[in-house]
Amino acid sequence: MSERGPKTIATINFKGGVGKTTVTWCLGDVVSSFSGAKVLVFDLDAQMSLTQAIALNEATGALHDKFQKWYDIAIARQKTMFHALDEFTKPAAPHFDFAVGFDFIYQVTEDLHFVPSVEDLYWMELEVFDRDGVKDFIRRLLGKIQNSVKLPKYDVVLFDCPPSFTLLSYSVLSCCDLVLIPVNPDFFASKGTNLILNSLKMRIEPFPVPKIGVFMNKTKTYAGAPTKESEFYMREVARVCGQAAQSQRVQARFFDSWIPERVGVKRAITGGGVPGELVQPFKDLWSEMMGYAP
Ligand SMILES: Nc1ncnc2c1ncn2[C@@H]1O[C@H](COP(=O)(O)OP(=O)(O)O)[C@@H](O)[C@H]1O
Ligand SMILES: [Mg+2]
Repeated sequence: MSERGPKTIATINFKGGVGKTTVTWCLGDVVSSFSGAKVLVFDLDAQMSLTQAIALNEATGALHDKFQKWYDIAIARQKTMFHALDEFTKPAAPHFDFAVGFDFIYQVTEDLHFVPSVEDLYWMELEVFDRDGVKDFIRRLLGKIQNSVKLPKYDVVLFDCPPSFTLLSYSVLSCCDLVLIPVNPDFFASKGTNLILNSLKMRIEPFPVPKIGVFMNKTKTYAGAPTKESEFYMREVARVCGQAAQSQRVQARFFDSWIPERVGVKRAITGGGVPGELVQPFKDLWSEMMGYAP
């Protein structure tokens, strides 16, 4: 995207449970709250964990009812990602006849908006085989959103991607500015990073590969600093990024910023907000991301 459009960032990792959903949501929350930017978050995972977590708001139950009512109407009016993709891939309608407004986008707060996932996406993935037919879907959808007179001009769009390489993630990756890869301090961190860096290039070519930023989530800490073990895995992943940058000629960087492991982060999505002690780490991560892919 860019060229005066919003900054687009896709969070991916083939491994589940590393914090893709949590990190995407926390970044959206922190950036919209503290920078005044208008942020739009997409749940592209047919497993719907973000959508379900938002519907599961335990803080007051108020958001729960509000979101659920809105979501039921969106489905009844055929205003979901499934319907958008269905419309886009219809051979009879190459013009992509899908109007976007607040019946498609849910307003969580004034500056943080959300496009939920829907179960049908899962089946859609199995039915639509034409990779190149789907490639421009997200780019065109963002264009519609950006040109809509009913919607704000978003500054930032974040995509929570599934833990597999789906048609939708392919469509996102071929038009986003930055791919954000969270890793955890474990044996899989460097192996998984290597796998993603190699396969990203293979999958996306001949289109330009976006910049790739890797950082550690769930960092174990002692007295506020990463433990020796977490530091070891950080060095390993940084080394893999450096190697890939040289041998694959992709722009891959391991960020200095890291997010600590804190159980309280669970409540961030279900209505509790980002825990106070994690606000600064997410702000730091964000400024490093913006310095890298301005
Ligand atoms: N920084 C963190 N500290 C503690 N727990 C975390 C952190 N980030 C994520 N988690 C937890 O890890 C689990 C998996 O996170 P999730 O965001 O769903 O991962 P993914 O989307 O990659 O599958 C969730 O229970 C979440 O609350
Ligand atoms: Mg997830």
